[in-house]
Order: sequence, then C-alpha cells, then structure tokens
Amino acid sequence: MDRIFSGVQPTGNLHLGNYLGAVRNWVRLQNQYECVFCLVDMHAITLWQDPAALRAHTREVAAAMLAAGVDAEKHILFHQSANPNHAELAWIFNCVARIGWLNRMTQFKDKAGKNRENASVGLYAYPNLMSADILLYKATHVPVGEDQKQHLELARDTAQKFNNDYGVEFFPQPEPLILGAGTRIMSLRDGTKKMSKSDDSDYSRINMTDDADTIALKFRKAKTDPDALPETEAGLEGRPEAANLLGIWAALSDTSRAEAVARFAGRAFSEFKKELTDLAVTVLAPINGEMKRTLSDPAQIDAILKRGAQRAHALSAPIMDEVKDIVGFLK
Ligand code: TYM
Repeated sequence: MDRIFSGVQPTGNLHLGNYLGAVRNWVRLQNQYECVFCLVDMHAITLWQDPAALRAHTREVAAAMLAAGVDAEKHILFHQSANPNHAELAWIFNCVARIGWLNRMTQFKDKAGKNRENASVGLYAYPNLMSADILLYKATHVPVGEDQKQHLELARDTAQKFNNDYGVEFFPQPEPLILGAGTRIMSLRDGTKKMSKSDDSDYSRINMTDDADTIALKFRKAKTDPDALPETEAGLEGRPEAANLLGIWAALSDTSRAEAVARFAGRAFSEFKKELTDLAVTVLAPINGEMKRTLSDPAQIDAILKRGAQRAHALSAPIMDEVKDIVGFLK
C-alpha cells in the first residue's frame, strides 16, 4: 500500500486553511493509504517558541487532529522530536541538497523578512528537515496545501540526487496531493495574503477553537468590496476577497468555486456571509466540541503521541540503518 506522510507545525491553533488545505484531506485519505501524521515541533522552533506554549500547542493541535477524524489507532500520529531519526536524516540531506536550491525557497524569504542575517540557521535549512520527514518513511504521497509545493519539489530533487550520488534506487519520488477548493485559503482581512497562524490580527483567520459567535463576527468583519457577487468566475478578476470567501464556501460544501459563483450570483455580500457563517459553524462546531473533550485529558493525548512515536521509530529505524550503510557510516 502506498504511504502518506504529512505534518503540521504546532505553533498555534489550527486555522481554517490548515483544516481545508490539509487535515480534512488527511482524514479522507486514511482509507486508501497507510498514513504517518506528524506534529513537527522541530520545525516550529526555527522561529522562537516559548517552551510552555509549544507544549500546550502540541497537545492542542493533536486534539484538533483527533477531533477532525485522524485515526491514531489505525495510523500513526506523533510529535517529530520523539523520533531522533528525523534529525539524523536531515543532517545527511544538509550534505546532499545544494545551497543554491535553498536560496530559491520563497518561504524562507517570507519568514526571514528583511533581517535575513538574523534568521536562525534552522529556518534556512528547514526544507531539508522536511525532505527528511517524508523520505525517512519512504512516503509516496504527501497531502499539503499549495504553499508547500516548492518544498515538495526540493524533497524530490534531494531524493534523486541522493540516489544518483550513491548509485542506488533507494528513495521514491514523493508525489504532492493538493486536493479540493481549499488549497490556498487567504486572510479575511486581505485577500492577497495567505491565512496564517502568524498574522497579528486574529480577525484574519478562523481558528478551529472559535465558537459560533466568534466565527459569525469574523465573517461579518471580513473585508469585501462594494459590488454584489459576480455572475461568472471571470468576474472575480481583481476581487481577491470575493474570490476567497466564495472559495471557502466551495471548500466547506465540497463543491467547486464555479458552483459557488453560480449559486450566489448577483447577491449582496451581507446575505452570502450569513450563509457562509451557517455552513462554517455546521462543519466546525462538532470538531470544536470534540476537541474540548479530548483536551480535558492531556495524559491521554500524551499517551497517544508516545505510542505513535514508538511506531514511527519502528518504521523508520530500518530505513535509517540502510541510509547509514549506503553513506558509508560504520555500524
Ligand atoms: P504548516 O504548519 O504551515 O501548515 C500545515 C498544513 O496546512 C496547509 N496550509 C494551508 N492550506 C490552505 N490555505 C492556507 N492558508 C494554509 N496554511 C497552511 C499547509 O500547506 C500544510 O499542508 N512545512 C509544513 C509542515 C511540514 C510538512 C512536512 C508537511 C513539515 N514537514 C512533511 C508535509 C510533509 C508547514 O509549515 O505546514
């Protein structure tokens, strides 16, 4: 059976973009693939994280994933730092991937901002750790949102260069799975910016922990333009906020943006936002409730993650042993 690996950073609550772009697809793919899902805490510390907050967020994101339907019995759910093989393979990939490749990564440029000299070395080498995450399990498929596409290409290049350099057919070429209408959800305050955990304004995103009133308020305040909704998809040109909100509606209702446009053609934003709120609350409220229940027992979450880490290590250790042998490390 083909194998999935995917990860999420426990740097804050999951938001609607994480859910629609990634986690919902993970849940749906669980019947077709053997899955390894990871809370990538080692990626998280490439930017400063308060230790107590990191611990809390790791449990919260685990609870959100379980509440969304990740099956931690059938599949593997764990935190990255609990399997040391990730760091070991990342080092080897630091010696395989080229500086020129990393220099092209747009996410580093975005996250490092103007003060690049002061960014952590980890933030720069981040994509190599991500390649290691995936290839450590010889994963064949990686469900992610649009923003991770470039990192996936780097993982493919790294797999290929490793195979060529050492004259082996060892690592597979992992395929990205970028599925559905929600692969790039934008900020509710600015339709040209990605919805993100790190945005200063909480009004820019719907969090998986938001209650119905908060969801309603955030959609009510969401930026729009003065016109009614367009009759055709072409009419969304130059209207990023309208495009984003219709895209969210399409993703939440499992249709296409074209269908969303047809349904709300010519309607006022105010009416559309009410329907959008109702739909979002219907989808998110059960997850929210389940998440609260799960979080009330942190010891149970820790036990699930610990067991997941043991299973992850059992899967990766023989692969890591082979990698060390290929590279020429003594046993
Ligand atoms: P992270 O934590 O930023 O996001 C987790 C997942 O959510 C998707 N996503 C979005 N999708 C749609 N719209 C958005 N606004 C949006 N924001 C985030 C992301 O594409 C991602 O799928 N580097 C990764 C974590 C990672 C990983 C991996 C992923 C580490 N190792 C190996 C896959 C395989 C990241 O920072 O995701």
